[in-house]
Amino acid sequence: MAHPAKSFVKMWPTWIALSLLVSPGAKIHAATFTVTSQVYMDISIDGEQIGRVIIGLFGAEAPKTVANFRQLCIEGVDGGDVVSGDGHGAISIYGQYFEDENLNINHTCSGFLAMANRGPDTNGCQFYITTMPTPWLDGKHTIFGKVLDGQGVVHKVEQTKTDTDDYPVKPVIIDDCGDHPMGGEFTVSDDPYDLWAWIKAAYLPLGMSFSILAFFQYIIRKLDSYTNVDDVQDEAVPKVPAKID
Ligand SMILES: *[C@@H]1O[C@H](CO)[C@@H](O)[C@H](O)[C@H]1NC(C)=O
Repeated sequence: MAHPAKSFVKMWPTWIALSLLVSPGAKIHAATFTVTSQVYMDISIDGEQIGRVIIGLFGAEAPKTVANFRQLCIEGVDGGDVVSGDGHGAISIYGQYFEDENLNINHTCSGFLAMANRGPDTNGCQFYITTMPTPWLDGKHTIFGKVLDGQGVVHKVEQTKTDTDDYPVKPVIIDDCGDHPMGGEFTVSDDPYDLWAWIKAAYLPLGMSFSILAFFQYIIRKLDSYTNVDDVQDEAVPKVPAKID
């Protein structure tokens, strides 16, 4: 039998975990979402493959949005702006646009997959992936998935140089995309510590996360200005960081 003092020492990870849980301010009510299916995307920048992103889709929380995204992805249309390839087009399996679905999931963490839009009920084929919590997008965009593997690839895309219109200087392309088979349904959470794990992993100074914030604020300002346009069809939609062919 182990010496009592020794087994106490051995249990230190448990003590730390417990003290984190009961410490004031620790987030213990993480939201959870049901992953009903998965898709993969192979990304390249300037012709060089940078890796695969695996995304879990929240089929219980946003079934209609997930069905649209899955179909665009699996049937080889390659997601993103499939109409004009320059951030101006919109198409969905329900017609040009479909309505917002479940705006109650908040942008609490990096790696959320959400629909880009140009005002209420204008979902099509454009989406974005968050690189940090973006609470100013809450209630405006349908979140319907989360990156389960390959968030590093997303951050590589994020770090590609963009011109004054937020358009990548080097082409960022989704080479391939399709179904990623899985066993049964499971749940994921919006654990905010994922973000810090990423910042540490990427050795990014904290200042970097503020410039990302500014970037998103720029996008949301554009979004707001499109909300009042009567004929939105000919208007440019806000560009997501990736150019998608
Ligand atoms: C999302 O954020 C809003 C505004 O902060 C809040 O009122 C709402 O309760 C949040 N929703 C959830 C599901 O946490």
